[in-house]
Amino acid sequence: MSSIPSPSTELMHVGRPNIGKRESLLSRIDDILDRRWLSNNGKYVREFEVRVAELLGVKHCVAMCNATVGLEIATRALGLHGEVIVPSFTFVATAHCLQWQEITPVFCDVDPRTHNMDPAKIEHLITPRTTGILGVHLWGRACAVEALGEIASRHRLQLLFDASHAFGCSHTGKMIGGFGRAEVFSFHATKFINTLEGGVVATNDDTLAQKMRMMKNFGFTGYDCVEYLGINGKMNEISAAMGLTNLESIEKFVAINRRNYELYRERLAVLPGVELIDYPDTERWNYQYVVVEIDEAKTGVSRDALVEHLHAKGIMARRYFHPGCHRMEPYASRYPGHSVILPHTEFLCSRVLILPTGMSVSTDDVKRVCDIIRCTLGVIAAPLSAVTTE
Ligand SMILES: Cc1ncc(COP(=O)(O)O)c(C=O)c1O
Repeated sequence: MSSIPSPSTELMHVGRPNIGKRESLLSRIDDILDRRWLSNNGKYVREFEVRVAELLGVKHCVAMCNATVGLEIATRALGLHGEVIVPSFTFVATAHCLQWQEITPVFCDVDPRTHNMDPAKIEHLITPRTTGILGVHLWGRACAVEALGEIASRHRLQLLFDASHAFGCSHTGKMIGGFGRAEVFSFHATKFINTLEGGVVATNDDTLAQKMRMMKNFGFTGYDCVEYLGINGKMNEISAAMGLTNLESIEKFVAINRRNYELYRERLAVLPGVELIDYPDTERWNYQYVVVEIDEAKTGVSRDALVEHLHAKGIMARRYFHPGCHRMEPYASRYPGHSVILPHTEFLCSRVLILPTGMSVSTDDVKRVCDIIRCTLGVIAAPLSAVTTE
């Protein structure tokens, strides 16, 4: 008997990688091997930086080994210290990049309608130790860029963005990438465009870009001259080759994600207590996150019970970003009491569910996931074995 699972028994994961044309990738990898230039600002990394900068409409893109290191380098190059205001409803790396440098993340609540940091909640968190605001464009939807910019400039704070989810998305018709002092994108395997692991920091600031280039290369400014404290944040050539290859298929990835998102919407919108977040036609989106809110009062079924049923059927839906950074360590112990000031974060952490999409998810897969959800919401009182979708 074969040990390889058949497609019907394969688990359906959130964030299964989008992969562009295999022949393009393999021919680039052949070239990399022939040229024996694997890292250290090689031809493919430079080309990738140019392509990404063109796409985002920014002056500089500095390629990194991942977005977490990109965030650490950007915050250090901007001179952040003391306290930085950040949402808790995000992937933990947003907070870790600060705490790793002994900067205190001060968690701000989100607006339950946008899922992004609520600008009305920021000002009373500002203290004499605050040096910056780190906004997150959750699910690719821009946070309140203008309001945050106004608060930052009035209090002389640095403003940067974790744009890990937002590659290929726009805000007020302008591509995300050029807002604030810098914006950091993730190209992790699960992201819309992946470089296996990787990231870029985008900025229009020449000096900042130059400083980050040095910092990601141990602080070297010449063959044997070190002028900054630096780290190894470099992207390698094979990652850049993967990135260039995937960029060639960006329109296809958007089209598939959009098709899946619209089908989910059509099938789930009719269910009371099940609400998909919106991607209005006025902007560009990557549709990488199919985000559903489950209102238990209307469905009669908790988000967690639904997740359990989906997992039992091989649909590995995720509770992003449960339970919120403030309930994870070291934050829960170091800064207790945050849950009191984060009611909307806690609310969303208890009801948000992410469904699988991407190029490996077919319309039949989406229909099956929706059928399981509909069925589960209808028959939750019955034993799991009774929940059938065939
Ligand atoms: C919002 C957010 N920030 C930061 C990261 C970290 O990115 P990376 O894995 O490239 O370090 C991720 C995802 O991994 C993320 O979703």
